Amino acid sequence: MSLPADIREHVSLQAMNSLGIAASARWFVDVDSDTQLGPILDYADREGLPTLILGGGSNLVFADDYSGLVVRMAIAGRRWEQVEADSAVLVLGAGENWHESVLYAAAAGYRGIENLALIPGTAGAAPVQNIGAYGVELGDSLVSVTVLDREAGQWRVIANEDCDFAYRDSLFKRQPGRFVITELRLRLSRSRPMVLGYADLADYFDGQNTEELTPLDVAQAVMAVRRRKLPDPQQVPNAGSFFKNPVVSLATWDKLKSDYPDMPGYPGAQTAKLAAAWLIDQCGWKGYRNERVGVHNRQALVLINHSGGNGTDVLTLAERIRKDVVKRFGVALEMEPGVIPAVLTPEK
Ligand code: EPU
Repeated sequence: MSLPADIREHVSLQAMNSLGIAASARWFVDVDSDTQLGPILDYADREGLPTLILGGGSNLVFADDYSGLVVRMAIAGRRWEQVEADSAVLVLGAGENWHESVLYAAAAGYRGIENLALIPGTAGAAPVQNIGAYGVELGDSLVSVTVLDREAGQWRVIANEDCDFAYRDSLFKRQPGRFVITELRLRLSRSRPMVLGYADLADYFDGQNTEELTPLDVAQAVMAVRRRKLPDPQQVPNAGSFFKNPVVSLATWDKLKSDYPDMPGYPGAQTAKLAAAWLIDQCGWKGYRNERVGVHNRQALVLINHSGGNGTDVLTLAERIRKDVVKRFGVALEMEPGVIPAVLTPEK
């Protein structure tokens, strides 16, 4: 087969996934423009190669080497559009670093994504799991996403209301492989009230006059809070929260709360969200480690690759934790990161 010039063979992915798993890609290409994307994907389709679109690799577990083509999304670009008196639209190329984009917006005085500081990964990956922290989700400010729809074979702009955003979920996550995100648009504001009510942030600002805070102050507070609790993937390989916070019926919540009065939870109108970290912590897993992998000692929701762990090590530990939580609380935790290759996902 005649190989497009930029595609490389047998490339290590270890530095491209935040868990530091030593998987490799049979084929690999960096894509830094949308004009490059179509021909590369057409080539993969002609050759029958499965493709994996890779952002920052901070929300996946390589269970094995990847036998197809890994396309690393490297489209750069940050610009402002529709600049009005109070609001503006920030346009981000999918390959932009998310955290730097947050600081860029906050430093310009724009509010909306400051609570999402220090979330690892790229802008293009952010809508897939509708990243969220400290009471804010990406979907709160996202206007639209530009995608290549591989099923329809055309470029599309998908508006927020069609992205099906939910807690750590979206259209893009539900139809894996169909959409390749190349650009996002976020509507930010100079005056929108900032969200400071989440316990960790409220504690941070306790006793301070929050009226005067700038979005950069809030981003910096979020960074301080995250650094206290969450390990830096550059130093301690991890994929952030390894499980979603489970959502249960109000009847289940009432029963759990009467059995475990200390259990934290966030009841809503129809369902309640539980704290997966607390459930895992109660089962005694916090700080656990074997020779290769373990559980963070300050946040039980974060699994860590201490030393040369592979995908099986991580997934085996996750499964042991999941089983313990089901046994003790009758609650089934769902993994947050995706498993690649997908067929090896233990829960499905
Ligand atoms: N808790 C424990 N043990 C622990 C950690 C926490 O009992 O080891 C308890 C806490 O006391 C608290 C509750 O669990 O009552 C919730 O903990 P925390 O506020 O730290 O938040 P979380 O629900 O564990 C979620 C997100 C994080 C996000 C924080 C802040 C999910 C799956 N995780 O964690 O997102 O930063 O809230 O908004 O929704 C990520 O997705 O990678 C991530 C880090």
